[in-house]
Amino acid sequence: MFNKKGGVGKSSLTVNLAAISAHNGLKTLLIDLDTQCNSTAYLDAMQLKGANSIADLFEQTITFHLHRRPAKDFCQATKIENLDIIAGSERLAELESELDSRHKIYKLKEALQSLSDEYDRIYIDTAPALNFYSMSALIAAQRCLIPIDCDDFARQGLYSLQQKIAEIREDHNAELEVEGIIANQFMSNANLPKQIVSELIAENYPVLPEYVSQSVKMRESHQAKLPLIKMAPNHKLTKSLVGIFDILEKG
Ligand SMILES: Nc1ncnc2c1ncn2[C@@H]1O[C@H](COP(=O)(O)OP(=O)(O)O)[C@@H](O)[C@H]1O
Ligand SMILES: [Mg+2]
Repeated sequence: MFNKKGGVGKSSLTVNLAAISAHNGLKTLLIDLDTQCNSTAYLDAMQLKGANSIADLFEQTITFHLHRRPAKDFCQATKIENLDIIAGSERLAELESELDSRHKIYKLKEALQSLSDEYDRIYIDTAPALNFYSMSALIAAQRCLIPIDCDDFARQGLYSLQQKIAEIREDHNAELEVEGIIANQFMSNANLPKQIVSELIAENYPVLPEYVSQSVKMRESHQAKLPLIKMAPNHKLTKSLVGIFDILEKG
């Protein structure tokens, strides 16, 4: 899940899609690459940040170890069945420049490859920046989802984002596909979101045909630290997220 813009729903969508995936019986892993740890908090996993966070996984690539711990060691169970997490950490910030200068950009890809027998699906939440970690994610991933919040500024970054993804595909990850743009916080009774989405479609941006509406249920779900599929399985918002998940699975 990636967009340089913050507040567009990256963490909300990553957690909810991963939870729906787990709910469907798929062994699922969420990796939180944002120092803000919003996905980790949402999954009520802040207590797991300790010694097995994503920062610890990256850190062992730049410190000497006789035996490096396998990536599986950093995957911890959440309270949701079939859903594990590699918890986020503020310490990612202090490690970033050293990881970058020592060319560790493929380490996440290696970690994911080593986990491919363990998990059916891996969802990655990223920070609102094209930093070392989101680059690592785009190099490791097979598909990229771009959420937008359907306001006027949402479009502005999309063109350069697509260019950047095309560049990463060419230089580092031939597999990488933009799976789609997710229209989040869509308000069907307002004109601007409709106009923005129809303009994007007219410009051939791959907007997924299921829109995620704006609803207080999302905030309630954050507060309850419970993804919507568990908290409100029959809510309209949940149904649209399930709709997105189904589109992704049809791939
Ligand atoms: N569909 C939605 N309806 C209502 N609020 C939403 C929706 N999606 C996200 N939000 C809210 O918007 C804020 C930003 O969402 P978040 O997922 O943290 O974005 P990001 O990870 O891109 O910064 C959060 O407070 C979240 O609760
Ligand atoms: Mg976030």
